[in-house]
Amino acid sequence: MHLTQLDIRQVRNLHDVKIKPGKQCNYIYGDNASGKTSVLEAIYLLSVARSFRTTHIKHVITHEQSSLQVFARLENQHFEQTTLGLERSSQKTRIRINAEDVKQVSALSALLPVQIINPDVHKLLEQGPKYRRQFIDWGVFHVEHNFLQAWQHYYRVLKQRNAALRKKQNKEAINLWNDQLIQHAKTITLSRENYLTEFIPIFNQYVDVLMGLSVDIEYQRGWNRGYSFTDSLELTFDKDSLRGFTSIGPHRADLDISYNDILVQNCFSRGQQKLLVCAMRLAQISHLKIKTGQQSILLVDDLAAELDIHHRHNLIQLLVDTEAQLFVTATEQNSFVLPAEIESKMFHVEHGNVKEVVQ
Ligand SMILES: Nc1ncnc2c1ncn2[C@@H]1O[C@H](COP(=O)(O)OP(=O)(O)OP(=O)(O)O)[C@@H](O)[C@H]1O
Ligand SMILES: [Mg+2]
Repeated sequence: MHLTQLDIRQVRNLHDVKIKPGKQCNYIYGDNASGKTSVLEAIYLLSVARSFRTTHIKHVITHEQSSLQVFARLENQHFEQTTLGLERSSQKTRIRINAEDVKQVSALSALLPVQIINPDVHKLLEQGPKYRRQFIDWGVFHVEHNFLQAWQHYYRVLKQRNAALRKKQNKEAINLWNDQLIQHAKTITLSRENYLTEFIPIFNQYVDVLMGLSVDIEYQRGWNRGYSFTDSLELTFDKDSLRGFTSIGPHRADLDISYNDILVQNCFSRGQQKLLVCAMRLAQISHLKIKTGQQSILLVDDLAAELDIHHRHNLIQLLVDTEAQLFVTATEQNSFVLPAEIESKMFHVEHGNVKEVVQ
């Protein structure tokens, strides 16, 4: 699936934008503050109904307006069309797929797998484990749609158990939740581990090609190695009762990536960290394509930042090779050269207006 039409209304400085993106590469250029990142933000919004820049939707809605709207037409390899619509205000989220109202945001995400590479990309390594869990879960969700259900059940039970811990209920009442918690934890952990088994070899290849080195990647399940989750819950019971929450489980999982036994966030340069996260995103896109045939949408904001010309060139070739539909921003019309064989469209952004440049 790829986007063939994109209409954006009242997203930041984009009042009313209509474009027809190309299947492969869409090169979006314009001066600072013209609205390039906002175009990418609109596509991202359509996939997950939230922004990658802020948790406050009112900051994304054009000043003095009450809601934003993004509409897109998707086309698959058999030329079948799907339409997606999102309307968001501070109070409500309205989703429409093929002109029918849909409640779950996950229905949008399933149709529109979107990845982003921007100047903040290295933060995936530097920030807390939550972001690395989200990274793994993006991959698992797109290849195994019922993963979301296990995840939602797990969090519901976890909340109940934590409430019992906080209320200082007796041990029996608290452990009443254990069976369900353990059952869902097992599904989540197994799905994540299976996913990573397939993901890691693809990731290693990208790291080798992009960086000429190899790293070790290890999944931390969220409780002590060598113990079952059941035993660990028993072992941490006293501590958890004191603290009023469940301190172990898949909600505490993490992904450790190390180079010569040192976590990469503690030894890699900023540029190396960026390349490594690019390798992670590329590997997810490739894995999804291999596993399900689904094409991702890749938003690349300001690629030039902190990458030298050799690495930039290398990365562009790999981005193109994934067959994802690319949306790449730059400040200049000729900031970088795209491989000659790829079909590309160019768009110029000026004061919130986006126009296709006929080449
Ligand atoms: N809620 C809003 N309503 C209207 N305009 C906004 C809103 N939020 C941000 N803006 C403005 O939108 C403009 C476009 O921002 P955007 O981040 O898309 O620019 P850009 O082209 O990516 O710039 P750069 O090259 O500096 O990254 C900016 O002038 C910004 O101040
Ligand atoms: Mg920008």
